[in-house]
Amino acid sequence: MQDVWLMEKMAHFNREVIPERRMHAKGWGAYGTFTVTQDIRKYTKAAVLQPKAKTDLFIRFSTVAGERGAADCERDIRGVAVKFYTKEGNWDMVGNNTPTFFIRDVHNFSDLNRAVKRDPHTGRRSAQNNWDFWTLLPECFHQITVVMSDRGIPASFRNMHFFGEHTYSLYNAKNERVWCKFHFKTEQGIKNLSNEEAAKINGMNREYHGQDLYDAIERGDYPKWKMYIQVMTEEQAKSHYENPFDITKIWRHKEYPLIEVGELELNRNPENYFAEVEQAAFTPAHVVPGIGFSPDRFLQGRLFSYGDAQRYRLGINYNQIPVNRAKCEVNDYHRDGAMRTDGNYGRLPAYTPNSEGYWTAQPEVAEPPLEISGAMWRYDPKDDPTDDCFRAGGDLWRVMTEDKKKILISNTAGDMKPVTTNIKYRHAVHCLHADPEYGKRMAKALGLPLAKVKELAKLTNDELNKATLDPEME
Ligand code: HEM
Repeated sequence: MQDVWLMEKMAHFNREVIPERRMHAKGWGAYGTFTVTQDIRKYTKAAVLQPKAKTDLFIRFSTVAGERGAADCERDIRGVAVKFYTKEGNWDMVGNNTPTFFIRDVHNFSDLNRAVKRDPHTGRRSAQNNWDFWTLLPECFHQITVVMSDRGIPASFRNMHFFGEHTYSLYNAKNERVWCKFHFKTEQGIKNLSNEEAAKINGMNREYHGQDLYDAIERGDYPKWKMYIQVMTEEQAKSHYENPFDITKIWRHKEYPLIEVGELELNRNPENYFAEVEQAAFTPAHVVPGIGFSPDRFLQGRLFSYGDAQRYRLGINYNQIPVNRAKCEVNDYHRDGAMRTDGNYGRLPAYTPNSEGYWTAQPEVAEPPLEISGAMWRYDPKDDPTDDCFRAGGDLWRVMTEDKKKILISNTAGDMKPVTTNIKYRHAVHCLHADPEYGKRMAKALGLPLAKVKELAKLTNDELNKATLDPEME
């Protein structure tokens, strides 16, 4: 017991593992810069988006379903979280490599992750659980089409686009607001892996995407993305034919064209994986003046969830960890808490308002107030007869070339092989709703009689879900 160093060493070792992110646990990071090349001042006053502004950033790419040790080249969406260290504080853009998301109701979020992660009985991932959940919620359809397409396994992080997905808002110096979506387009070109290529790589190098990113930066081949926005006015939103705040819907580019903003470049690798990548904490709640939220109910749920997860995962003072710390001066009345490592604001008053004249709120940087109408209640957009969950998936199918269609059909049929027939029917019906050819070819690939798929397609969503509950269905 007198070997105190040994005690110290063993005790430290036993406590070195911190909780992994509940999802997006496997990831890789890099530093870079964002340079504004265009002028979008009419939309936003954000310093980070002003002409010629150059801002340091940290990015983390991730897979979603796998744990911290999962292989990189799995079929999954990729998370892309960017922390812009702006002179007005940190702006976190926490997005994915797909333009829409599976679901749009926050209540479904933990269920989505339970369905794609491990089965409570077997401890294994389960295609049955995956497809059961996805097909009971038809709003997943567009995202399923993307994930099962050739884009479901990118060749590298450098070879994919990424998106903010949600509708955010921008407001200018006159506090005039527009709704906006963020797009980041790769300048390296899109490249993907087939299932066979990915299986081979995963068998040999589970850290393939991380290594690719690291090596590219080390050799000076800095990856770049062009940032664009789509803009919708408040007036346009009122008469848009779909809910513009539904994250499962696309804003068509020909109606809301891409507006170029600037270029994002990655040019420096982290020095220490744990300190900088594992301890990085991003949240969509981190915005700066000129960038705001929207009535997207899914986004609203995220505004709470991330900070809460990080208080658990890293502790209440997670924003003091160097990778998370804003590069500008931050004045607040938070005090104390575990691992407080700055001076805790010394002798300055810890309450507001105070007579010493210390920091007060700055109403001039607040988002302009949002007028809302209608009942505040949980509702299911599927109850709205104008809601079309299949349009975006159908549009995507119709722009695919024949070889991409073949890949999509064969990836889906392969993935659904272990799944029971009732669930296959549900998916084939959804494909049919999206496009007659998509439905016909999917039914054939899944070994289902088209006549029965067509019969089931006459049912409402609730009726279809009820008619396809029985796993013994033939
Ligand atoms: C209501 C829906 C959602 C909830 C409640 C949610 C919650 C979370 C939580 C708790 C984490 C772990 C945070 C941490 O421990 O640091 C996380 C990670 C992440 N989420 Fe979400 N999420 C939602 C939807 C989305 C959507 C729609 C996107 C993309 C547009 C997204 C992108 C990400 C990314 C990229 C990460 C990893 C961040 C990192 O690299 O550290 N999430 N999410």
